[in-house]
Amino acid sequence: MNDTILVTGGAGFIGSNFLLQWIDHERSSILNLDKLTYAGNLHNLEPIAHSPRYRFIQGDIADRTLVQSVLRDHQPRAIVHFAAESHVDRSIHGPEEFIRTNVGGTFALLEEARSYWSELGQRQSDFRFLHVSTDEVYGSLGPSDPAFHEHTPYAPNSPYSASKAAADHLVRAYHHTYALPTLTTNCSNNYGPFQFPEKLIPLMILNARAGKPLPVYGDGQNVRDWLYVGDHCDAIRAVLANGIPGETYNVGGWNEKKNLEIVESVCSLLDEFSPNDPVVPHRQLISFVKDRPGHDRRYAIDARKIERELHWRPRETFETGIRKTIRWYLDHEDWVREVTSGDYRKWIATQYSN
Ligand code: NAD
Ligand code: TYD
Repeated sequence: MNDTILVTGGAGFIGSNFLLQWIDHERSSILNLDKLTYAGNLHNLEPIAHSPRYRFIQGDIADRTLVQSVLRDHQPRAIVHFAAESHVDRSIHGPEEFIRTNVGGTFALLEEARSYWSELGQRQSDFRFLHVSTDEVYGSLGPSDPAFHEHTPYAPNSPYSASKAAADHLVRAYHHTYALPTLTTNCSNNYGPFQFPEKLIPLMILNARAGKPLPVYGDGQNVRDWLYVGDHCDAIRAVLANGIPGETYNVGGWNEKKNLEIVESVCSLLDEFSPNDPVVPHRQLISFVKDRPGHDRRYAIDARKIERELHWRPRETFETGIRKTIRWYLDHEDWVREVTSGDYRKWIATQYSN
C-alpha cells in the first residue's frame, strides 16, 4: 500500500473541487476514476492535469474487473467515493441509472475494496473507505423539528435519496460484518464553482443573466441547508485524516434558507455585479412553476459531532460563499458555454416544458 488516494467521481462538481484542494493542501498523490457522464468535466481539472501527483482513469465504478486492477496496480491507502448520479429531478424522470451507479456501483466498489483490503496484512488498519453521502437520506423535516443528527432514522423520499440510503446501508454493513474501515459523511446542499447548472443556484445565475424565467418549484418555501463546496472538501479531508472507522459524520453549513430567499439573493447580487443584463432588476424573472413530485419540505443538519470530534466548522457564511460563487460564474463564461450545449439543452427543454 502506498500513500495514493483513489477518488471516484473526481470530474464532477464536488470531486473537482476536492482534487484541486487536495493537490494544493496535501502531499500525497491522487488517482481519479470517473466514467465522465454528462456531469463529469475534465476541463475542471486542467490546473492539475500535468501534476506528477495526479492521474486520471476513465471508467465505471460498477466495472469490477477495472476496479480490481486499479486497486492492484496503484495500491491506494484510501478510497474517497463521490461517484454518483446526483440530481433529484433526473431521478424522478429516470431512476434506473441511480440504482445502477449509486447502489450497484457502490456495491462493486465495496466488494473490490474488501478483497484488496483483506490482503493488506498488518497495514489493514491504515486503510479507509470514505463514502460521501447526503442529508436527503433522512427525509423531510417539519418547520420546528430538530435538525438531522447522526442517529436520525433514515426515511428517503426520492429515487435519488433512496439509492444513496441503500449505499449508506451497504457501507455500514461492510464495516459491521467484515470490519472494513469505512467512514460516511452526510452533507447538506453544496454550492460553489463547477456546479452543473441543473441545480438550483447555478441554474438561477445562468437564467437570470440571460433574461430567462427563474423557475421556483411550488411556493418556494422549501428549506435547505447550504454549504460552500470548499468547506465540504475541508470536512472530507478532516474525516479522512481523523474520523473513526465505522462512524458517520453530518456536514452542514448552519445556513438554513428558503428557496425563494436563495433566488432573491442571487437576483440582488446580479443586480450589483451584472447591471447590464437584459432584464434588471433580475427578480422580475422569478416564476413559480409546478412543484417537484414528493418535494421534501425542509432539510437541516446538526453538524455538532464533526465540530466537537474533528474540529471542523464551515468558514464561509452564505453571504460570503454566494458572492464568490456568482463572481466565479461571471468570470467563467467559457466553462458555462461548454457545459450548456447539447444534452444540457435537451434536459432543460424536458424538465421545464410546462
Ligand atoms: P456530480 O453529479 O456533479 O458528479 C458526479 C461525478 O460522478 C461525475 O464526474 C460523473 O461522471 C461521475 N460518475 C457518475 N457515474 C459514475 C460511474 N458509474 N462510475 C464512475 N464515475 C461516475 O455530483 P456532485 O454534486 O459532485 O456529488 C458528489 C457526491 O456527493 C455524490 O455522491 C452526491 O450524492 C454527494 N452529495 C452531493 C451534494 C450536492 O449538493 N451536490 C450534497 C451532499 C452529497
Ligand atoms: P437542487 O439544487 O435540485 O437540490 P436538492 O433537490 O438536492 O435539494 O434543488 C434545491 C432546491 O431548489 C429544492 O428544494 C428544489 C428547488 N428547485 C427549484 O425551485 N427550481 C429549480 O429549477 C431547481 C433545479 C430546484
